Amino acid sequence: MDDTLVQEKKTPVATDDEVVIRIEHLKKSFGDNEVLKDINLELHRGENIVVLGRSGQGKSVTIQCIAGLLEPDEGVLEVLGKEVKELSPDELRELRMKIGFLFQSGALYDSMTVRENLAFPLTRVLKMKDEADIEKRVKEVLESVGLEEAIDKLPSDLSGGMRKRVGLARTLILRPEIMLYDEPTTGLDPITSREISELIIKLQEKYETSSIIITHDMNCARIVADRIVVMNDGEYIATGTYDELAKSPDELINNFFK
Ligand SMILES: Nc1ncnc2c1ncn2[C@@H]1O[C@H](COP(=O)(O)OP(=O)(O)OP(=O)(O)O)[C@@H](O)[C@H]1O
Ligand SMILES: [Mg+2]
Repeated sequence: MDDTLVQEKKTPVATDDEVVIRIEHLKKSFGDNEVLKDINLELHRGENIVVLGRSGQGKSVTIQCIAGLLEPDEGVLEVLGKEVKELSPDELRELRMKIGFLFQSGALYDSMTVRENLAFPLTRVLKMKDEADIEKRVKEVLESVGLEEAIDKLPSDLSGGMRKRVGLARTLILRPEIMLYDEPTTGLDPITSREISELIIKLQEKYETSSIIITHDMNCARIVADRIVVMNDGEYIATGTYDELAKSPDELINNFFK
């Protein structure tokens, strides 16, 4: 990727005060395991928030609640102005289409070519039928992630970084307003991780998405975050820019930046 295209973020991209995700006092337990104790967060339109936290703290559980894959026990969870628990099944389906979820594994269909993997959500979710329209949209999104030449390949013929890009393309092809990334750079070498991090920003600008990005990769955090929140023991204990949190006197926080 052209290195001059995307550099580190200097200023937040967020242009207005519209809140696209509002979370207040969110709680979620599994039996005796109290995972989310008191989560509070506002994601603004156009903003990228990075969530840091040690393993098993409930970072994935939080975004699974946002995506409607898990039901919170208590608290406010508003997505695009709607309280999720008050939605009918049809309304929930409609809302889910506006949320893109990049799973850690990428989860591509191994027996389908890249073209078929990308066309699948268009025919299945959007019920698109016109072959030419589908092909146009597949090619446009592949171009966005810089993989036009891979259209006829199978996932097994692609590198880990390329598979991540196809996964990203498959999520973006539905043109979500909100993107949820669960460890987008895990398992990739540092250079490929950097490329994916830069791609996340480029796509945020192109598609005007608002994003929550879970990562353990501090280079990724530095590149993509407008704001970082640190999760510990079921709560978000700190929020700030990369530079602000790196200077925090709290050891639990500044340990992530060492
Ligand atoms: N569907 C589930 N049923 C029961 N327990 C679950 C479920 N999903 C997550 N948990 C538990 O919730 C806790 C938090 O899990 P979560 O996956 O959110 O951690 P995480 O912060 O994403 O960790 P990591 O950095 O390792 O991915 C763990 O104790 C986990 O066992
Ligand atoms: Mg996780």
